[in-house]
Amino acid sequence: MKSHNIIVIFGVTGDLAKRKLFPALNALDNRDELPSDTVVIGCGRGEKKKNIFETLDKKLRENSTYLRVQTSNMNHFLKLKEKICSIKKSDKSILNITFYLSTPPSSYKDIISNIIKSDLNKENSGYSRIVIEKPFGQNLETAKKLNKLLKSGFNESQIYRIDHYLGKETVQNILVSRYSNLIFNALWSKDYISYVEITAAESIGIGSRGGYYDKSGALKDMFQNHLLELLCLIAMEDPKENNPESIRDEKIKVLKSIRDINFDQHIVRGQYVESRGRNGEEYDSYRSSEGVENNSKTETFLACKLFLDNKRWKDIPFFIRTGKRMPTKVTEIVVNFKKNKNIFSSIDESNMLIFRLQPDEGLLVKFNLKKPGKKKEIINKNLEFHYKNLSNKFNINSYETLIMDVFNGDTLLFSRSDFVEMAWKIVDPISSAIKRNKLKLFSYKSGTWGPKNANDVFRNHNTWRYPCKNLVNDGEECEL
Ligand code: BG6
Repeated sequence: MKSHNIIVIFGVTGDLAKRKLFPALNALDNRDELPSDTVVIGCGRGEKKKNIFETLDKKLRENSTYLRVQTSNMNHFLKLKEKICSIKKSDKSILNITFYLSTPPSSYKDIISNIIKSDLNKENSGYSRIVIEKPFGQNLETAKKLNKLLKSGFNESQIYRIDHYLGKETVQNILVSRYSNLIFNALWSKDYISYVEITAAESIGIGSRGGYYDKSGALKDMFQNHLLELLCLIAMEDPKENNPESIRDEKIKVLKSIRDINFDQHIVRGQYVESRGRNGEEYDSYRSSEGVENNSKTETFLACKLFLDNKRWKDIPFFIRTGKRMPTKVTEIVVNFKKNKNIFSSIDESNMLIFRLQPDEGLLVKFNLKKPGKKKEIINKNLEFHYKNLSNKFNINSYETLIMDVFNGDTLLFSRSDFVEMAWKIVDPISSAIKRNKLKLFSYKSGTWGPKNANDVFRNHNTWRYPCKNLVNDGEECEL
């Protein structure tokens, strides 16, 4: 039976479509992975402009049409339905439809309601799936409303909430590395691990995204979603089976086990100020960015310490930090092991396992060995693996993975409704403390690792690792 793969992109003239969706579709098409007969229907508010699809590859471009759809206009949705139905070549052919909401979240309500009202959510012959981008609400209450609206017309298995971090190869590798290596998995608990660090640093500032960012800050922009997802992958219990629901069930349990956070001692917020770099370069302040209030108290840096109240991780701290205008762009997870009782030397370093998510993607194990020629001295060395040594195949962009997963009905790498709500339950008390001015905001210079007191969250532990762009290097001063 003939089937048609229709992808309807709302907000087709926007940045996301241009930067992420079209390149991903092109790459999939080039690799012949897209289902045959893929048709793109691009929807936008205005009349058709020339060249909307010019960056799509020829074959896809020829199968693309533009439709003016004002999100609150039901007639426009009926036209969309007509258009979709006209693609069906015979009564027997199957229509598989993906609605991709690549619009500002303020349009979600109208689009979702009108898709449902026009019955486009119904799965008659093929499937009907909906993809939405973060933010999924601004707090628990709005997230619940959004979930309720989605569920009024779609089953959870039809809903794909994108967290692009989950599409990264290296993020998917966390679970594989844990579960396919007994040498790691056997040590995965409070008995052998002393603390875990999760860092997502970016060297860029806020650029032109001030209007959005000033209302979110690092807490809602990165912590509520990407960083909590990473925490769950690193800390979850063994899933019963390798399927989306078993794994997503375990992730939720991690969120539920997060102990109430001690705001005063375990959260540090920062904002970058005007400063000069090491080589005299001038950096503007966050507050002078377009769309940002000139007395903004929004954090561009956040560090916190979390504990999980469960058997595996009792009293083991998880340190999480993210920030803009840091010395380099790097995302990594550092698992710090406890020290072994060492009869050979009192001076040794503990083992570290580092999952480098980007850049110089790979894995690094720090281990100790005897210093040649010395009886009692130990040196700490690296065992390293770099993905770049494998092949180009590794260069698969998250959006390519995620779009194919939507077409294949694989929900594993998408955030489930209960995850989103639980994450807001954790974040809401922090944002409410921020609103009540209960959480101080410190300044930091661009090109540094945030406010000086970001180290205070450690107390009795060491300090953060200061990663460089190369996996094996670290230190506060790195090659840029
Ligand atoms: C987005 C945030 O979700 O993730 C941005 O809104 C951030 O502020 C981006 O820059 C980081 O993603 P990546 O893939 O570049 O680490």
